[in-house]
Amino acid sequence: MTELTSMTFSETDLDAIAAQTGRVAIFVDAKGKLDPGARRVNKMMKGAIARLAESERWNKMKEADLITLAYPQGLQADAVDVVRIERSAKADVARKAGAALAKARGGKGDVLMLAGPLRRAEDTVYGFAMRDYAFEVHKTAESSRTGGVTVMTGKPDDLKLSAVAPLAVAEGAHMCRDLVNEPANVLTTTNYAERLKEMENLGLKVEVLDEDALAKLGMRTLLSVGQGSDSPSYVVAMHWNGGPEGEAPLALVGKGVVFDTGGISIKPAGGMEDMTMDMGGSAAVAGVMRTLALRGARANVVGLVGLVENMPSGNATRPGDVITSMKGDTVEVINTDAEGRLVLCDVMWYAQEHYKPSAMIDLATLTGAIIIGLGHENAGVFSNDDDFCDGFLKAAKTEGEGAWRMPLGQAYDDQLKSRIADMKNVGGRPAGSITAAQFLQRFVKEGCPWIHLDIAGVASVKSETTLAPVGATGWGVAALNRLIADRYEAE
Ligand code: BES
Ligand code: MN
Ligand code: ZN
Repeated sequence: MTELTSMTFSETDLDAIAAQTGRVAIFVDAKGKLDPGARRVNKMMKGAIARLAESERWNKMKEADLITLAYPQGLQADAVDVVRIERSAKADVARKAGAALAKARGGKGDVLMLAGPLRRAEDTVYGFAMRDYAFEVHKTAESSRTGGVTVMTGKPDDLKLSAVAPLAVAEGAHMCRDLVNEPANVLTTTNYAERLKEMENLGLKVEVLDEDALAKLGMRTLLSVGQGSDSPSYVVAMHWNGGPEGEAPLALVGKGVVFDTGGISIKPAGGMEDMTMDMGGSAAVAGVMRTLALRGARANVVGLVGLVENMPSGNATRPGDVITSMKGDTVEVINTDAEGRLVLCDVMWYAQEHYKPSAMIDLATLTGAIIIGLGHENAGVFSNDDDFCDGFLKAAKTEGEGAWRMPLGQAYDDQLKSRIADMKNVGGRPAGSITAAQFLQRFVKEGCPWIHLDIAGVASVKSETTLAPVGATGWGVAALNRLIADRYEAE
């Protein structure tokens, strides 16, 4: 797994600045008020920081922007990064500042952060850790990533403690990104199941259900998606029981299509390579489970993922086939490219039958239509429970992860009527994301609060975001972790 950049927390020692190699980061407010650390750097640089803080350029900078002063005289460091930030900056700004520093570092060299003036240094540390990510496992040159971060502050032990949970989120997000970025010849269903099994090291209980077990359970719609592939299908259940014994868990369910060719309803060649990310929902579930274990969350959560590959072959499901789901409802498969819902419906049914969860959230790169509707800024949020949904939207907002609620309704559900079976797996062109959600809702039991997150637009992106470079974002790990912390953990 791509490891977090190493972070050490130490007592402020101004005499150590001169000998620091790599970069030195200081934090200065709009008015140019210098804390002791910045004042020392200013003195070593013969007043350069004070001049910068009086300049027009400084005035034009936005909060959390930085200016790099390269090869400063009086210091060993190659650069001094001067971040404009108020002492009272909110969490999102503090994170942005950390991300800006990580971007400036570019994965190379040491950084000394003089965090004295930051009231939310743990957020800056988090922003740095999130943004300081690169997927390099397939670059044959030895990793160019070097160095680490030293954060100097008045109370290093306190900061170290308050950074535990944020860094657990960053590590969960890194794992999620690694999985999403990994190509499908490496991240086969079997390799994926093995990687999840390894999380037992962290204290999670991980069960792998193979095809025989899935057949016995009657997960025929899930198996129908994987049957055209040489890779076997699996369902993996990850358990974190940090809450009261016997308390019903929250169930997280993820779509784990390691590659989506579309099957017999094959996709066009252009852009098909992006379908390595079609397991993004399952990766977010795995990432959150990792985070919960790393920070010892006091909640019961079960994460279930359906791992399959959607391939065309002589044995693949045909358009027109009718499959009986685990629930017992029959599905006419009109389009084998609408496979995610066929995977999820069985796993969701299993989750409810087997674990009697207090609530359920599924995540899936489910529809191209959600990208048409919401772009890459927001995931689509569908729910049968306003209070639960509001809780999630709030958590996502706090974490800076875009999420926008979409409607459900009987008229959309009617689009799924089939002439010969209980339902079709597609509802036609209008409202494609909503009919997909309606399909899933048919597999949600009465009284089970449920949220469906369509993350097709946000799981992997072609231009960088505040906290992530191009590629897999880790969307959902932070928001789900926040929701669990807010709603499911005892004080
Ligand atoms: N995995 C795709 C959805 C997707 C598209 C994810 C783009 C990420 C980026 C899904 O399985 C799919 O193919 N959906 C079809 C549904 C259609 C056949 C009803 C789609 O969106 O075209
Ligand atoms: Mn598809
Ligand atoms: Zn898909």
